[in-house]
Amino acid sequence: MKIITIIGTGYVGLVSGAGISDFGHNVVCADINEDKIKQLINGQIPIYEPGLYDLVDRNVKHGRLSFSNDIAGSIENSDIIFIAVGTPEGANGTSDLTAVYEVARAIGNSLNGYKVVCTKSTVPIGTGAEILKIIKDTNKSKNDFDYVSNPEFLREGSAVKDFLWPDRVIIGASNEKAFDFMKDVYRPLYINETPIIETSIETAELIKYASNAFLSVKISYINEIANICDAIGADVHVVSKAMGIDGRISPKFLHPGPGFGGSCFPKDTKALIAMAEALGTDVKVVESAIEANQSQKVRMVNKLINLFNDDVHGKTIAILGLSFKAQTDDVRESPAINMIAALKDRGAIIKAYDPVANENMKKIFNDLDIYNSWEDAVCDADGVVIMTEWNEFRGLDLPRLKDLVKSPNILDCRNILNIDDLESLGFHYDNVGRKKA
Ligand code: UDX
Repeated sequence: MKIITIIGTGYVGLVSGAGISDFGHNVVCADINEDKIKQLINGQIPIYEPGLYDLVDRNVKHGRLSFSNDIAGSIENSDIIFIAVGTPEGANGTSDLTAVYEVARAIGNSLNGYKVVCTKSTVPIGTGAEILKIIKDTNKSKNDFDYVSNPEFLREGSAVKDFLWPDRVIIGASNEKAFDFMKDVYRPLYINETPIIETSIETAELIKYASNAFLSVKISYINEIANICDAIGADVHVVSKAMGIDGRISPKFLHPGPGFGGSCFPKDTKALIAMAEALGTDVKVVESAIEANQSQKVRMVNKLINLFNDDVHGKTIAILGLSFKAQTDDVRESPAINMIAALKDRGAIIKAYDPVANENMKKIFNDLDIYNSWEDAVCDADGVVIMTEWNEFRGLDLPRLKDLVKSPNILDCRNILNIDDLESLGFHYDNVGRKKA
């Protein structure tokens, strides 16, 4: 059993801390944000993440998980310290590492014995070397320590599952002692034969970006195939199914949509491009994926406007789904932002509903007319657009929708509605690469 501090209580830090405590270790989730720590101590989870409340509650009750604002004290009492603070997008696609370096200095100042320092946050290749240097420069006690890169592959909305049952664990380190410490952290996974890949620090840092950027490329690729399907009247669901049967391609991340969003893909793809340029090379495939992604968001706006013969001025449009994907309240880089901005520019009247992300989108558009049900949002609308694949939209009662709207126009940006039902009910509809009437 190890004593572990996780610094940063966002969805990566909190999920990882609760998950590691569930593996049987003694974990402190530490943060400088006093409100966040107060909420956590009071049993409130400051983020929307399915299953996280139960995971935290179970381990707090077993005395394995606690929360603290005392960063220095937590570090001093720990065997392993995880850096899990935010690395937001900085200038021209680079990552803002201010918080990471601040934590590195705090660790250096609090080293009172051998410890493993592990970065869980997504950091550009070479950041490990910089963190090592900062800790060495601030390590007044001259105590020994080792540095490890242990990138996360958590998806918002399924982060608990992704942590407890990962496809693989990546450990980048430079000696056996550090590898052994980390294998002890993930022992329950080790026992059920989850692949644990031991490699260098820089390789571990690259694996994270290479994985995320590839998934982004895959999404932009199927979006562009969907656009060809639109042009020839083919069905992209048949194409992606047939592609996915090929084990080399896999069916995952082959769902066309309005473009990828979130706090990771847009940031990580730009960061990889910036890294490549700094290293005198490039990743043109990733550059194209970003370009295709921006085009996809614009394409959705044009599809909606086409439903109204290019004029939405004065039309009431109901937007169902504001988060960048289902099962999260996160609206960062959500395609719904582009849709709302474009419709506002064209004089449309917008009514919006999302099961959990209403308030977050209202922080971006403070005049957004938000509703607490899809029925209220679509009532008397001239058109409806589905931006997020929430289950409640997958099971939309289409006859009821038809009765509530003023005109039966609908754009399904997630291909979740049954085309035959839309047809038989007389909807004027469009989607992303599926058969049209
Ligand atoms: C991603 C990575 O999946 C995860 O491994 C990493 O740790 C963090 O970034 P996340 O951004 O939370 O996770 O969500 P993800 O499920 O990957 O979706 C990202 C975006 O791609 C969303 O906008 C989603 O709607 C879109 N997407 C995903 C598609 O458009 N089609 C797909 O088939 C899959």
